[in-house]
Amino acid sequence: MSNENQTPTTPTEPAQRSDSTSPFLNSPLPQGTPQGQQQSLQQEFNDAPISNVPKYNLPRGAGKTGNVGDTTHFGYQTVKAEDKAQKVAEVFHSVASKYDIMNDLMSFGIHRLWKRFAINMSGVRRGQHVLDIAGGTGDLAKVFSREVGPQGRVVLSDINESMLNVGRDRLLDAGCTNVDFVLANAETLEPFADNSFDLLTISFGLRNVTDKDAALEAMYRVLKPGGRLLVLEFSKPVFEPFSKLYDFYSFTALPIMGKLVANDAESYKYLAESIRMHPDQRTLKSMMEQAGFKNCDYHNLTGGIVAVHRGFKL
Ligand SMILES: C[S@@+](CC[C@H](N)C(=O)[O-])C[C@H]1O[C@@H](n2cnc3c(N)ncnc32)[C@H](O)[C@@H]1O
Repeated sequence: MSNENQTPTTPTEPAQRSDSTSPFLNSPLPQGTPQGQQQSLQQEFNDAPISNVPKYNLPRGAGKTGNVGDTTHFGYQTVKAEDKAQKVAEVFHSVASKYDIMNDLMSFGIHRLWKRFAINMSGVRRGQHVLDIAGGTGDLAKVFSREVGPQGRVVLSDINESMLNVGRDRLLDAGCTNVDFVLANAETLEPFADNSFDLLTISFGLRNVTDKDAALEAMYRVLKPGGRLLVLEFSKPVFEPFSKLYDFYSFTALPIMGKLVANDAESYKYLAESIRMHPDQRTLKSMMEQAGFKNCDYHNLTGGIVAVHRGFKL
């Protein structure tokens, strides 16, 4: 594991207590708008099936330039920016029920170590407020729920209700009572008020987001001063011969495994392609700096197959 030698500033803000209402939400939530359709941090939500909730409007079609009508990439395909979110949604609706088992199979269980590494870098403390963006089936949120304790609060958010449904069932079954489940687009994080969270994480989510700059800006907005962002994501392997082997594995074995286990080769082809299209370590670091994050650094894991980027809001 290597890292760029920048010393992060340790957040000095004391852990804040949370009540069981809606400390993070922009309020009041207007009805009939995408924001109004978000699930608030209400107890009744925990008892209601997500599928009963009106679907969150998909991203507004802004590409990297913010112009509707721009093209972007969906894996190796060039698509209209406004179409990408729908295509990504189809992938995750399709794989949701098999997502966890496929993760273990595809990574030989190593994704658990990558996630553990990110959690160790989080500096999470009791009583804190944590937002896991694009959190899917809730691997990180489950651990944070334990770490922040009963005085803390964790929000598991995702744009995709199939993924969030699996996550919600898992975490409720595990007895996580301090977690809320919120449908939200990472590009806007619209349901959340400014300066709400001590810690933000996005794990294997950012590469699926159409407008990554907008997402990083939204993350900066909802983070409290003194808080930190962690981005765990596939990245660029640092050792060239290893890249070749990795390419062979990704483009040949993954779609076959996807076909056999999830009956969906295409989604796993997208996975391999989307990884190659994602910004490399240095590019992502500079995008984070551009969004306002300070003391940014990254750590390569498994030879740069994955990297954890970290940045602070001072
Ligand atoms: C590969 S999964 C990662 C899930 C989980 N964080 C993990 O590490 O196992 C990617 C997740 O990103 C979500 N996602 C994709 N685009 C998103 C967006 N614009 N806003 C929020 N979530 C998004 C998907 O629905 C999916 O659940």
